[in-house]
Amino acid sequence: MKKKRVAILISGRGSNMRALVEAARAPDYPAEISLVLSNRPQAAGLAWAKAQGLATALVDHKAHADREAFERAMQTTLEAHGTELVCLAGFMRLLTPWFVEKWQGRMLNIHPALLPLYRGLHTHERAIADGVKVHGCTVHFVVPEMDEGPIVEQETVRVRDDDTPDALAARVLEQENRIYPRALALVAGEQVVVRGNRVLMREGREPGAPTRAGRSPSS
Ligand code: GRF
Repeated sequence: MKKKRVAILISGRGSNMRALVEAARAPDYPAEISLVLSNRPQAAGLAWAKAQGLATALVDHKAHADREAFERAMQTTLEAHGTELVCLAGFMRLLTPWFVEKWQGRMLNIHPALLPLYRGLHTHERAIADGVKVHGCTVHFVVPEMDEGPIVEQETVRVRDDDTPDALAARVLEQENRIYPRALALVAGEQVVVRGNRVLMREGREPGAPTRAGRSPSS
């Protein structure tokens, strides 16, 4: 199967972007990173991507009159790079239904919590304050409602008695960096189908077979 052309949208550090770029270097990975787009000129991830020789673009939201103009500029850039799939990776702008609908079923996001718990910001602080024992991260398809949409992958992280939001965030981020490449491989490789709010392995794939990067679903 031809590799899917993926654009990664970032606003900052870009560790998830890096994880995707590194995974996509494998010859059998079903996606290639054809663009890294940032809305912030100072994003550390943008400098890293440039240094790697990747195609990069800056679409600065502050240089546009309104959200629509900003998104139209992003859309033009994505189209110019032949983008087939979009991965949001720490992209800190809310997207309008117009943009989301253009990419519906073709745009993923990573969220630092076990959705549908802890939508929004400050997820680690809130999880600790609530006393939950298990926290984690989620990769999901993007729909117009923020932090909703069919879930492709999740991973759990135990909350420790002495956890701080930063310590917990660091352990969750390690898992984010593992599940995002896995989730993108499932979607780009057309191994999954969306049925309502569920993302299911395509028919013909045995349940329990080590399809999700070598893990059985119960592990
Ligand atoms: C991650 O925690 C991600 O889940 C959230 O923003 C953070 C981005 O981190 N959406 P990075 O820029 O990928 O390192």
